[in-house]
Amino acid sequence: MKVLITGAKGQVGFELMHAVPEWAAVTGLGSKELDITDEAAVMAACRRVRPDLIINAAAYTAVDKAESDQDTAFAVNATGVDYLGKAAAELDIPIFHISTDYVFDGMKDTPYLETDTCNPQSVYGASKLAGEQALAQRTDRHVIMRTSWVFGRHGNNFVKTMLRLGSERDTLGVIDDQKGCPTSARSIALTLWNMAERYRQEQSLPWGIYHFCNDVPCSWYEFACAIFDEAVLQGLLAKAPTVNPIPTEAYPLPAKRPQYAVMDVCKLMHAFRRNRVLWQHELRDMLASVEQ
Ligand SMILES: NC(=O)c1ccc[n+]([C@@H]2O[C@H](COP(=O)([O-])OP(=O)(O)OC[C@H]3O[C@@H](n4cnc5c(N)ncnc54)[C@H](OP(=O)(O)O)[C@@H]3O)[C@@H](O)[C@H]2O)c1
Repeated sequence: MKVLITGAKGQVGFELMHAVPEWAAVTGLGSKELDITDEAAVMAACRRVRPDLIINAAAYTAVDKAESDQDTAFAVNATGVDYLGKAAAELDIPIFHISTDYVFDGMKDTPYLETDTCNPQSVYGASKLAGEQALAQRTDRHVIMRTSWVFGRHGNNFVKTMLRLGSERDTLGVIDDQKGCPTSARSIALTLWNMAERYRQEQSLPWGIYHFCNDVPCSWYEFACAIFDEAVLQGLLAKAPTVNPIPTEAYPLPAKRPQYAVMDVCKLMHAFRRNRVLWQHELRDMLASVEQ
């Protein structure tokens, strides 16, 4: 089965490329090889590769920059996704796409379901929601996987920022009143490949939106403490800095984040017979192979 992966050099794209199953013939294109905001280029790449499935890992992910760069965020996260959906519909093939917990406002206090109302609070969140909607308009044969707090060995993420700050400072403050689920790029990639395998076998899937994140929910502060503990254990840091819990107001950022970004993963676990993944295990493995 031929699979076209866009955004192949991002955190998730990298892990998708490193976990290619033996049955898949993959063409992975980074942003320099295929700009998804270029409709003609998207159509040409699809006609050339003639994939049986598209997996879109390309996105504008600079959440704070998006507040002052709305046009680019929407071009990539909405228009680009629309072009990919159009190409998938023209080729009569399915498409897997990744979205975010930031489509929600974070006002709930129980895990978000796929059926919950979206109410993005940031430009990034609004652009990702527009991408979901554009894709759903183009084709029914889509899987939209909403995930959260992504970390991986390749690319930039919170874990790497903590490692850097931990090597530079004795003390730091980390937000303790936002709750979410750290999720490894590897576990996202493996789950997407599992879905692709099922599609290969059955030529169909229970299409739609799915939430996927690792267990168990925590705050950024709790995540930071776990990162430092594991980094010291693995000899990546000589000693952990003192980490102080701080409220969101103490660390103002341009984009508003959901206070509570926990998503319910039961729908995906049941539909695809997957087991829950602990982010602590993923963190341990990621730190053992991290690109610094
Ligand atoms: N990171 C998170 O915490 C997080 C949380 C929830 C959901 N997600 C979602 O998960 C997915 C994967 O995210 P990630 O963490 O892997 O992001 P990432 O590391 O930023 O990777 C995104 C990739 O998309 C590429 N890209 C940007 N504009 C493009 C364009 N116009 N055409 C083609 N490629 C383009 C980027 O290339 P350049 O670097 O060359 O621009 C980058 O390699 C995204 O849909 C994201 O919205 C991420």
